[in-house]
Amino acid sequence: MSNSANPQVEFRNALGSFATGVTIATTLDVNGEPVGVTASSFNSVSLDPPLVLWSLAKNSLSRDAFCNSGHFAVHVLAASQEELSNRFARSGEDKFAAVEWAKGELGSPVFTNHAALFECRTKHQYEGGDHIILVGEVVSFDARDEAPLLFHGGRYVERRPRSAGEAGQTVDIEHGQFSDDFLFYLLSRAHFQTSLPTRRKLAENGLVMEEYMTLAMLSMEAPLSGDAVAQRLSLTGHTPDEKLLSEMAAKGLVQNTGSGFDLAESGRKLFLETLAFGKALEADLADHFSNGEIADTKRVLRRIIELTGEGGPIS
Ligand SMILES: Cc1cc2nc3c(=O)[nH]c(=O)nc-3n(C[C@H](O)[C@H](O)[C@H](O)COP(=O)(O)O)c2cc1C
Repeated sequence: MSNSANPQVEFRNALGSFATGVTIATTLDVNGEPVGVTASSFNSVSLDPPLVLWSLAKNSLSRDAFCNSGHFAVHVLAASQEELSNRFARSGEDKFAAVEWAKGELGSPVFTNHAALFECRTKHQYEGGDHIILVGEVVSFDARDEAPLLFHGGRYVERRPRSAGEAGQTVDIEHGQFSDDFLFYLLSRAHFQTSLPTRRKLAENGLVMEEYMTLAMLSMEAPLSGDAVAQRLSLTGHTPDEKLLSEMAAKGLVQNTGSGFDLAESGRKLFLETLAFGKALEADLADHFSNGEIADTKRVLRRIIELTGEGGPIS
């Protein structure tokens, strides 16, 4: 231990260097009233059986309720729930007044909003100095695609930098460079590198990207007018014009059916060949990742597309 004048404070500060999420644990007291406390001591224990733990200060007003109810729920808080965290960190407040909740599977209060939820049967209680360690067997859980509330050094961690000035860690403003921690750089580089073999294949087949995108669009939806194709591709930066569409028709890639453009025989063949080529590359790449990583990547990319698409909140 430290020799300083106040070793307890130093100990607490040292513990604070461990960054955590923030949870609210809830249960019912002997009268069936909801009780809850903010807790950052939550942790996973075991996958099989599914066990989690957190520790409760012995001087907490909620102690008897948690030690006697036989069940508790742990809500992992989302970044937007800082105020709720503060409310449940104040002893004796009417904590549930402004929270939407209902009784969960075992009776513990369950909030409508959370980043994740674990409903537990209290399995063990251990002495832990001035805390009691509660181990719960998870009977059900739920996880949502939400940024978590984070706690470090005795305070909530700010979310990502919002302005260009604050984005200094990823953009070297002085030298006009960006580091490889810059999300947009990583997205662009991943896009360029994964699409390069396909773009080379297209060039070998005498196709430009606008033509390929037009074929891809018509494979999903046809017939389409020239304007409709252009409108659907406008966000990709590869919008065909009238001239390109008539050149594609002349090459036998598309045909004008009278009610709009559709794939022509050689257009369909070329598109399918290129698609199969891309799918084979994707399969090779996927071999280097777990199914979970692939699923997570797809989820994040779909969300980015949603957020940055036309009418999206940051389009
Ligand atoms: C971010 C944060 C994390 C906390 N973690 C814990 C914890 O793990 N265990 C605990 O007993 N109290 C923890 N507290 C303090 C309790 O939330 C606080 O003492 C609460 O008022 C207890 O409520 P009660 O006395 O009404 O039961 C934490 C507080 C904050 C703000």
